[in-house]
This record gives sequence, structure tokens and C-alpha cells, in this order.
Amino acid sequence: MQSVIVAEGLTRHFGDHLAVNQLDLQVASGEVFGFLGPNGAGKTTTVRLLNGVLSADGGSARVLGYDVATDALEIRRRTGVLTETPSLYEALTARENLLFFGDLYGLPESELPRRAGALLEEFGLADRADDRVGTYSKGMRQRLAIARALLHSPELIFLDEPTSGLDPAAARMVRETIQTLSQVEGRTVFLCTHNLAEAQLLCSRVGVIDHGVLQAVGTPQELASSLWQELTVEIDLRGEPSAAVREALSRLPEVSGQSMENDRLVLTLANEDAIPTVVAAIAANGGRIYGVIPREHTLEEIYFRIQANSHGEKGGAA
Ligand SMILES: Nc1ncnc2c1ncn2[C@@H]1O[C@H](COP(=O)(O)OP(=O)(O)O)[C@@H](O)[C@H]1O
Ligand SMILES: [Mg+2]
Repeated sequence: MQSVIVAEGLTRHFGDHLAVNQLDLQVASGEVFGFLGPNGAGKTTTVRLLNGVLSADGGSARVLGYDVATDALEIRRRTGVLTETPSLYEALTARENLLFFGDLYGLPESELPRRAGALLEEFGLADRADDRVGTYSKGMRQRLAIARALLHSPELIFLDEPTSGLDPAAARMVRETIQTLSQVEGRTVFLCTHNLAEAQLLCSRVGVIDHGVLQAVGTPQELASSLWQELTVEIDLRGEPSAAVREALSRLPEVSGQSMENDRLVLTLANEDAIPTVVAAIAANGGRIYGVIPREHTLEEIYFRIQANSHGEKGGAA
């Protein structure tokens, strides 16, 4: 898989405050990468560093193959950025805003009206396209701001907290847009958010940053298996296990707990490798298995576990 973002030791101070500390990160082409962390963690600073809006004072990064230190213009030509507080011209209509910014991006005049019209259509703004932005709701403004970031058809899109402050319906519309960008159009999305349910829904991989330090990065499954040793599985036996099955399981050192929940046998296992052993033990004792479902941790559980671990480490060192 081709990497569109490669950062190595990327570092940025503001005065003596370390906003981004030795960041190593890779984002592959086509993925929706979730960049998670509390306020002040360093997410926006990272986005600005990766777009060459801000210069690093340590480390390096390549974006779409270009060096942020020397090719910032080239990078900004190929990326779309939705900042935390996108500015639009209130006195202009949505269409006029897109035409203005498209011109600024250097889009050919012959193509621009068609491109603007298509985006307004795609973002559900076509019937209000010729109304002044001053009359728009927050959700409509945000959709217009994303449309603006897409005018020049960037292959990599940075969205910094795109749904913060939106009502549930507007947030949902923005999330659907992000899914379309990735699944239908195959674009890479770098999504900063502190909404964990949103990240769970949209992101194939996530990174968690806190106090400028990347605490963990991976798919939710990878993160979960590095954070939890034990594994909980639900086994569907279409009823209670027999006494023989229960006894056989209790003799296995890999099984540290068994209970019934919602008609399922729930086992706590030492690790994934115990699953075939358990299945074999049940079958050998006459049990019939209709399903084995490992319980997955939510991104929220993963996130708080990472936070607890990193704070624990600090506490331990103090
Ligand atoms: N231009 C700036 N000048 C001084 N400090 C800044 C500036 N931008 C960000 N910071 C500080 O750097 C840290 C990281 O900020 P930021 O990247 O905006 O975090 P996030 O986007 O995760 O909320 C914060 O402590 C913030 O106050
Ligand atoms: Mg921010």
C-alpha cells in the first residue's frame, strides 16, 4: 500500500511549549485515518505542519511524495483542507463563494461553473445555491466549506473537526459525505475528531495523540489486542452447556471464566489461540456449536484505555 503521508520525528514548539513531539506517522492511500485526542493535543498543529502552513522545527514529512519543508505549494495544490473555523464570504451566495475560491485555486474559467454546480448538487445545496451564505445554517455552511476544500479535486483531504458544533442531522450529512469521498471516490481522508463514535463509524485506522505525543496507532482491532491480554467470546450452543462441557472447559488453563448471558455461553480466554482449543473441547464432549463471536472493544473503550495507560505511566514516573 502506497503511503500518502510519511512523518518522521515531526516536531513543533510554540515558545517552550512542545505542541507536536517527535511524531512518526504513515497514512496509506485511500484510507480514512482518524486523528484522535483531547483539545490542545496537537491535532490542528499536525495538520498545519503536514500542509506546510507551519514549519517544523524538527523531523521531516512527505505528503503525496513532496517534502513539506521545500514543496509546500505543491502539496497545497494537491490537498484539500477544512480548517476548524472555515471562513466564507457571508455577503456572497454559495455559488459565488465557490467561483471566487475556485478562481483563487487557479481552476480554469471554462470548467469552474460546472465544477461549482456539481459540488453544490452533491452537497445538497443546489436549491439554495443563489442565496447569500449569511442566511445559511451552520450545517449548510460546513457542507459548503467542505465543497470548497474539494473544488480542485484533491486526492488527500484534511478535515479538522468537521462535525463539531453541528446538530445531529447536519453532522450525519457531513459523515455521509466523508463516506462518499472515501468509498465512492477513493480519496484519502485525514480526519481530526474527538468524537469517538464518529471515528468508529468512519475510520479504518486511528492514531491517538495527547500532549503532542502519538500514544498509539493502528486499526481498532490491533489497538484492542495490544491493550487487552484476555479475550471474551460468546458461544452459541442453542441453550445451556451440558455438565460435561462445563467441566471440560473449567479444566482448560486457557479459560479463566464462564457464564451464561442472553442464552450464550460467555468465556474469558487467555488469548485468541485458545479459541480452537475451546471449540475442540466442547465438540469432544458432545456440545454442538452454532456460532463463536469474539466480543470487540469499542473505540471509546480503546481510547480511554490508552489515555489511562499514558497517564498511569506519567504517574508512575513521578
Ligand atoms: N499559533 C500558536 N501559538 C501558540 N501556541 C499554539 C499555537 N497553535 C497551537 N498552540 C498550542 O499548541 C497546543 C496544540 O494545539 P492544537 O494543535 O491546536 O491542538 P488540538 O487541535 O489537538 O486541539 C496547544 O497547547 C495550543 O495552545
Ligand atoms: Mg484543533
